[in-house]
Amino acid sequence: MTFTYMEYPSDEELQPGDAALLEKARTATKDAYAPYSHFRVGAAALLNNGRIVTGTNQENASFPAGICAERTLLSVASNLYPGIAIDSMAISYANETGASDRPIFPCGICRQSLQEFSQRTNQPIRLIVSGLIGIVYIFPEADCLLPLAFTPDELH
Ligand code: THU
Repeated sequence: MTFTYMEYPSDEELQPGDAALLEKARTATKDAYAPYSHFRVGAAALLNNGRIVTGTNQENASFPAGICAERTLLSVASNLYPGIAIDSMAISYANETGASDRPIFPCGICRQSLQEFSQRTNQPIRLIVSGLIGIVYIFPEADCLLPLAFTPDELH
């Protein structure tokens, strides 16, 4: 199995729409509730209807109850615009205890949720990932990050 992705030295080399979406993800980190990890993740997605939605990680004193930015975003999108596919999702983070100068990638649970959202809306989700500054990766589809996924098809 192989996949290709694009690597850009900074947001300055991105298409304007991608740069704007990444900026929204970077700004969204301010809305994270991360008093325990101090790791504020922001996600922003462009939907097929042209709308942009955001999501951030929301932690809880009962740690497992917290939710990642990506899955918050998927819930926001599903509820505000049911059935509408996601064209692209940008993900960034503000690390209060360290630098934010390289990309982070969705956790395993989020990869699973991205896979099913993509499948049920019949469209790949492009991923644009970067810190607050520096290198940017673009994956043509989130599914690249979850080969051999367990999918709803297996339940039938
Ligand atoms: N987190 C996300 O929101 N997205 C990711 O892709 C990785 C991790 C959050 C979960 C937790 O609130 C904090 O970052 C530290 O793991």
